[in-house]
This record gives sequence, C-alpha cells and structure tokens, in this order.
Amino acid sequence: MTARGKFITVEGVDGAGKSSHLEYIASKLRAMAPVVVVTREPGGTELAERLRALVLGSSMDPLAETLLMFAARSDHVRQAVQPALEAGKWVLCDRYTDATYAYQGGGKQVPMALIRALAEAVHAHAFPDRTFVFDCSYEVAHARLARTGRALDRFETEGPAFFGRVRAAYLELARAEPARIVVIDASATPDAVERELEAALRSL
Ligand code: TYD
Repeated sequence: MTARGKFITVEGVDGAGKSSHLEYIASKLRAMAPVVVVTREPGGTELAERLRALVLGSSMDPLAETLLMFAARSDHVRQAVQPALEAGKWVLCDRYTDATYAYQGGGKQVPMALIRALAEAVHAHAFPDRTFVFDCSYEVAHARLARTGRALDRFETEGPAFFGRVRAAYLELARAEPARIVVIDASATPDAVERELEAALRSL
C-alpha cells in the first residue's frame, strides 16, 4: 500500500508576502517527494474556482461567506486533495481551513464552534501535517500591498481593525497547535524568511 502523502498549507494575513514564498516552498518539497501538487483555496477545482470568483467578488453576509468557503473546500478536498494524498503525492495548498478560522471567525466573528463543526463534516480526514503562517504588522502588509499596484480583493481592502482580528486569530491557532503551525516573521528579509522556511521544512 502506498504511504499517504504529506499535506502542507500556507497561510497568513494579506500582504505578508505568502505568495512570493510559495514557489520556494514548492521547490524544497519537490526535492523531498516524488510528486508535489500545488493548489489553492478558495479554488483548486473548476467548481471551486467559480465559487472563488463569487466569494471574493461580491459582498455578502459572513455566514453565506463561510458556507461558500466550505462548499468550495468540500469539492476541492474530494476531487483533488484527498485523491492526491491517497496516491502518495504531497499537496501544497495556498490557504485552507485556518483561513476560515482567521478571516470568517476572527475577522467577521462567525462562531468558531460552527467553523469547527463544518471542518469536521467537510474534511475530517484531510487535515494539514504542517502549516506556515506568514505574520507581520498592518503597516508592513499595507505598504507591501500598495507596492504591488494590482487591484485588491475585498478582504485586502479591509482596515486595520479587521486585519488585527485576523492576525490575532492566526497567532491563537499557532499557540494552540505548536507542533503543526510554524509562524514565519514575514517582515524579515526574503533571505532570512527562506532560511527559516528551510529549517522548518527539514523537520518534515
Ligand atoms: P489569497 O489567494 O491569499 O489572495 P491573493 O492570492 O490575492 O493574495 O486569498 C484570497 C482571499 O480569501 C484572502 O483575502 C483570504 C480570503 N479567504 C477567506 O476569507 N477565508 C477562507 O477560508 C479562505 C481560504 C480565504
């Protein structure tokens, strides 16, 4: 029987530079595993990408937002993540359920117990083995987003109070699960971040 692959997720506040380090993480993982599938949430399947456009593009009440995140996740887990892990592939996912705890739970104050129940129903058997949380202050994130010059989605244009709640929720998750979640100081230089990532990846 093929050993189950490893499931690695990457998280953090908007503007922490997560996306630019994702390719570095993928390249390190490719040296450790025969096949690495890189995917993202919301998204990763045709249906989930359509739900992504909907949920990032239109404002809606926080409960509808939470349910759409999990609708997208349910399709993504069943069609892509779970089959890949069972085939022994490693999966690197740009955001997952920790983002729902942080953004909808922390940011929008949807009850954490509801999110936990949905997570249990949708992916009791697809839980990350390792999670990197890119962390930085509002000022650093805001300056970085402004420098990109691209159009921002509706979560990226929220103010400092929302940002603070999302950040606090991520740090709380990391405190509760220190063996799984590694917090990366995203305000450090790119080289320093890569060194931190490399050390953390070695433990996989
Ligand atoms: P992301 O792909 O990181 O955006 P980008 O590639 O544009 O930097 O994430 C999209 C947004 O979706 C991000 O602002 C966080 C939000 N999000 C949630 O609010 N809840 C969730 O469960 C997920 C997966 C993402």
